Amino acid sequence: MFENTHFPKAEKFWYLGEIMEWKEPTIHVMSHALHYGTSVFEGIRAYNTKKGPVIFRLQEHMDRFMHSASVLHMDVPYSKEEITDIILLVMKENKLEKAYIRPLLFYSYGNLGLVPKHSKVELIVAAWEWGAYLGEAAKRGTRVNIVPWRRIHHSQFDQKAKLGGLYVLSTLTGVLARNKGYDEAVYLNLEGNIAEGPGENIFIIKDGVLKTNDMSESILEGITRTTVLKLASDIGLECRVSPITKQDFFQADEAFFTGTAAEIASIVHVTDDSDPADEGKEYTIGTGKVGNITKKIQNFYLEVVRGQHDAYADWLTHVYKK
Ligand SMILES: Cc1ncc(COP(=O)(O)O)c(C=O)c1O
Repeated sequence: MFENTHFPKAEKFWYLGEIMEWKEPTIHVMSHALHYGTSVFEGIRAYNTKKGPVIFRLQEHMDRFMHSASVLHMDVPYSKEEITDIILLVMKENKLEKAYIRPLLFYSYGNLGLVPKHSKVELIVAAWEWGAYLGEAAKRGTRVNIVPWRRIHHSQFDQKAKLGGLYVLSTLTGVLARNKGYDEAVYLNLEGNIAEGPGENIFIIKDGVLKTNDMSESILEGITRTTVLKLASDIGLECRVSPITKQDFFQADEAFFTGTAAEIASIVHVTDDSDPADEGKEYTIGTGKVGNITKKIQNFYLEVVRGQHDAYADWLTHVYKK
């Protein structure tokens, strides 16, 4: 019934205090989160290094996970340390050397009123081997579509929280863009500036200066974004954090997405469909190929996550040491 076709190497997951076989049926059909999206989650990556598998910036992901849970008023029955241990256990049980890790806290079975006062908070941790989210497109440079729907405004919700229900908007815009043949969607914010992708932040490069926006522009300030800002300044690039207008984006020399799932994925072409009354205008970013600064940051990032730079060893949690 539950084949792992789209979850390579996933054999087991953790739920209700135990390791379960991937194919085991689990939650009840009337679980609260299934109906209302009352869940919070993280997306974390583990990489293979010479010293064995490591989880990248686990502490920061755990901090965000617990923050998300508090935003949804969850009474989490596990400590951060316990969840960390469960994540390490799931990696080992699946014998994974590299992985995408998905912890999820959700309101489960109890009642179906909007307020889940009789629904318990439960935890799932799963992991599998998942390639770069934007796949082959990331190698040649992605072609993106600015969708008509705007990113939810920072005044409407705490955007530090990864709340399951809100991701229906990411699914919707991701589907819209792909149905038109693009690799990914891009949202504007309510101010009409570039916000982010459905699961990625956006950087641009102009005249050698790297720029990204922040929470005041209605984005989730991703952990990869923070990492890239640090790595870029460490290699001497000038970095600015300020709004990205549409014109900034269209006239950039280079642009790229960042995210745990997508890692660093160049953007080379944009179609602006933000105004449904207008026919989408097309823009090539820079030369239309993956730019040199993007490549440099991408390579550096991939070396760091794979443990090739001791200066960033603090960002790595060893699953076990070879
Ligand atoms: C809306 C959104 N923006 C940006 C990101 C990138 O965040 P991170 O780099 O922490 O994965 C994500 C992914 O979690 C996301 O869902």
